[in-house]
Amino acid sequence: MRILVLNGSPKKENSDTLLITRAFLAGMEDAAKQEVRLIDVVDRHIEYCTGCFSCMQNGGTCIHNDDMREILDAILCSDLLLFSFPLYCYGMPAPLKALIDRTLPLSGMAMQKVGDRYEHVGQADFSGLRYLMICGCGFPNSRQNFEPAVAQFRLLFPSGHTILTVPEAPMFSAPEAAVVTAPRLDLVRKAGRQYAETGMIAPALLEQIGSPMIPEEQYAAIVNGGFDPLEKK
Ligand SMILES: Cc1cc2nc3c(=O)[nH]c(=O)nc-3n(C[C@H](O)[C@H](O)[C@H](O)COP(=O)(O)O)c2cc1C
Repeated sequence: MRILVLNGSPKKENSDTLLITRAFLAGMEDAAKQEVRLIDVVDRHIEYCTGCFSCMQNGGTCIHNDDMREILDAILCSDLLLFSFPLYCYGMPAPLKALIDRTLPLSGMAMQKVGDRYEHVGQADFSGLRYLMICGCGFPNSRQNFEPAVAQFRLLFPSGHTILTVPEAPMFSAPEAAVVTAPRLDLVRKAGRQYAETGMIAPALLEQIGSPMIPEEQYAAIVNGGFDPLEKK
């Protein structure tokens, strides 16, 4: 499978979320050989969409001549778009949002009703594309936190999407937390394998991956400089 990883963390290789993404990709590799290309979005020259809509009217050319031309080509050559990003203010980091805004040339101006919503008719054929979101966050809670990012992703990619959300993500970069992060990365790897083999991840596994690794209060206490709950009494 040709996988395009859009790494939306400004921390690039030091991203907590990317550690989760790499475990997922390792699981996919366990199932079959994959062709993976990773783009650090923050490093790319991506102008903001100006909202002129000329790309939707003149056959799909944006007024900006920047890295988005190459990225749109890469998107259209992929089987799977893997959006790996940290939760920022309940959404995606700004550089990744700028990239998504600039995918407008893939849509035409015409709109059609699909079920009870409207969507633009595509100017390119991306019916074979699948979409994966892997999002880590800093708080221990998933509820009252991930919902806006998840809702946006579902609306952007109504079919063929799969979503992994992982709270307490900074723990993945803390070697002293390996006792809880290693088993969690094993679950993520299992999910990657399942996804490659079946195109789906069992809901129970997704829920396990999305649950806190240590109790919320203990996590908050560590972040707040309190006691270390991983330390043996
Ligand atoms: C600007 C900014 C906004 C953030 N907003 C949230 C948030 O809304 N909810 C949350 O749980 N964590 C939030 N975080 C914490 C990050 O999601 C967390 O540190 C994550 O592990 C960073 O992942 P990364 O290393 O992959 O970039 C925010 C961090 C930053 C820098």
